[in-house]
Amino acid sequence: MNDPTTLRRLYGRRSGHKLRQGQSALLEQLLPALSVPEEGPLSAEILFGDSRPLHFEIGFGSGEHLAYRADLLPDHGFIGAEPFLNGVVGALVHIRDNHLGNVRLHMGDALNVLERLPDASLSFVYLLHPDPWPKARHSKRRMVNPGPLDLIAAKLKPGGEFRLGTDDPTYCRWSMMVMNGRADFEWLAESAADFLTRPGGWPETRYESKARRQGREVWYFRYRLA
Ligand SMILES: C[S@@+](CC[C@H](N)C(=O)[O-])C[C@H]1O[C@@H](n2cnc3c(N)ncnc32)[C@H](O)[C@@H]1O
Repeated sequence: MNDPTTLRRLYGRRSGHKLRQGQSALLEQLLPALSVPEEGPLSAEILFGDSRPLHFEIGFGSGEHLAYRADLLPDHGFIGAEPFLNGVVGALVHIRDNHLGNVRLHMGDALNVLERLPDASLSFVYLLHPDPWPKARHSKRRMVNPGPLDLIAAKLKPGGEFRLGTDDPTYCRWSMMVMNGRADFEWLAESAADFLTRPGGWPETRYESKARRQGREVWYFRYRLA
């Protein structure tokens, strides 16, 4: 197994514009109530008090997909990880406004949480518009690489689903190459339309709508763990 720690240096922005007072209050009051514990093993029982199906979103951005899915499936548990402070605030706003009791957040590296979950415990893993790292010399920083993928494969249940979306042509080609080389994931596309059309139950994220506004194509991949 490749070492998932190859991604352990977090790249990218940790914070953007200054927070307004209400946003700081959300961070101080709501985030601690639904944060994933910083250490120790994790499970549905530990996070939600029962054995509900678990979903995990890597880099949820402003949380619109996470909140949509959590609202759609109130009996399931959703774990989201995102190091970008302003994104976490965005997710907290969705959680508060939609009264979502089935979401837990980690403000930091998704892999640090993933590795603490039991093997074969996740029903879905989402990776939507990951940072593309378009330069070849930065390709090891991409989330779609053997280390993180081995971890995702270990944590998904057999038959569990890994959803990947990107608007970056280099990342699209890269992902197809990396994923096609894996025997453990089955690509669920039956025709070209399947990866050009957003599947049902997959809402548009902020990065997706930005890409579309700028006239870029978006690709949707669904893989089932064997
Ligand atoms: C291009 S944005 C996409 C955000 C969102 N998924 C969307 O579609 O709008 C990529 C996000 O991944 C986050 N990210 C990068 N590395 C990460 C990591 N190791 N763990 C969790 N999130 C990460 C970044 O902070 C950033 O918000």
